[in-house]
Amino acid sequence: MKTYDKQDFPVSNVRRFLEPGPIVLVSSVWKDKMNIMTMGWHMIMEFEPSLVGCYIWTENHSFEMVRRSKECVINVPTAEIAPKVVGIGNTTGSKIDKFNKFALTAQPAVKVKAPLIAECFASFECRLADGSLIDKYSLFILEVVKAHVARAPNYPRTLHYRGDGIFMIAGTNTARYRKLFRPEML
Ligand SMILES: Cc1cc2nc3c(=O)[nH]c(=O)nc-3n(C[C@H](O)[C@H](O)[C@H](O)COP(=O)(O)O)c2cc1C
Repeated sequence: MKTYDKQDFPVSNVRRFLEPGPIVLVSSVWKDKMNIMTMGWHMIMEFEPSLVGCYIWTENHSFEMVRRSKECVINVPTAEIAPKVVGIGNTTGSKIDKFNKFALTAQPAVKVKAPLIAECFASFECRLADGSLIDKYSLFILEVVKAHVARAPNYPRTLHYRGDGIFMIAGTNTARYRKLFRPEML
């Protein structure tokens, strides 16, 4: 079995290996203004209720928008709109209307006021489930209350950030190891 000769590595950069995927676009609305931010730091926390933890930096315009409205939509983009995903991460909604600037279509959600992004493969409507870690960690614990997912393809070409401007684009899938799983773990 292959082993690796490992070197010392800055602990502040381990995110390059552990960063969860895929990159998402978080849309929000507050006082009739819509906004979008790019997000990589999110994690699934529970199936039922469907909980997702999200880190939103205090300096982001979206921080107060989501904190105050207690809602947002997590949208999953694919590689086709990678330039928009980067552009949305490079700009702030305090200065521009990102739906307009990046030619994205806002669609009404069912359970929240924040809009879905039509150009994204999937959109998950979320409500703030627990705000107790926002002040300490900028961590928003959200509950997905409604999910919208495109019928095809089954495995979209999602974007996964490796840091330093490098994206991994979801590619090969295999069912080779499926039989190794305990059924309840599937
Ligand atoms: C690939 C990528 C991943 C990002 N991940 C996060 C994240 O997880 N949390 C965060 O607060 N900002 C993240 N950002 C930065 C925000 O998207 C960026 O600060 C954006 O300008 C915020 O927009 P806003 O000020 O309109 O809210 C990421 C940016 C990029 C390009």
